Amino acid sequence: MPPDKKAAHYERLYKQLTELLQKSNDTIAQMATISAVLFHKMDTFFWCGFYRVEADNLVVMPYQGPLACQLLPKGKGVCWAAVNRNETIVVPDVHAFPDHIACDSRSNSEIVVPLRNKQGAVIAVLDVDSDKLNSFDAVDATYLEKIVALIHFD
Ligand code: SME
Repeated sequence: MPPDKKAAHYERLYKQLTELLQKSNDTIAQMATISAVLFHKMDTFFWCGFYRVEADNLVVMPYQGPLACQLLPKGKGVCWAAVNRNETIVVPDVHAFPDHIACDSRSNSEIVVPLRNKQGAVIAVLDVDSDKLNSFDAVDATYLEKIVALIHFD
């Protein structure tokens, strides 16, 4: 999708999600809603969901798509890299990323966006996989960061 069309599509989804997330302040309900909307409205999203940070693992939270790893062991893979660097990571080819964790062998590219609590600590990530190479760019990073900023944390 051309970047301007993708941005316009994200704008519509952002507006829709802003309205939907006003219905509940429950973090899990909001994550479930975001993963359902993104998975069903973004053509390239093969898997889309959340992991929360625990001491030894990232633990899976609401998601849509094929069965995923429940636990991601500390320090390994793209999701932990996003936690440790405290920044969004775009991976054009997951096979070229050292330590990438393949929950599903059909994944080829990926974006991971950190979620921060009110104190600024990374407490979870949004992870999106595509079965095509090079699916994600700065437009995805910008809008997915805006979308996760809608989630309420106590
Ligand atoms: N690929 C991720 C693991 C999670 S799955 O993609 C759903 C990683 O390397 O951390």
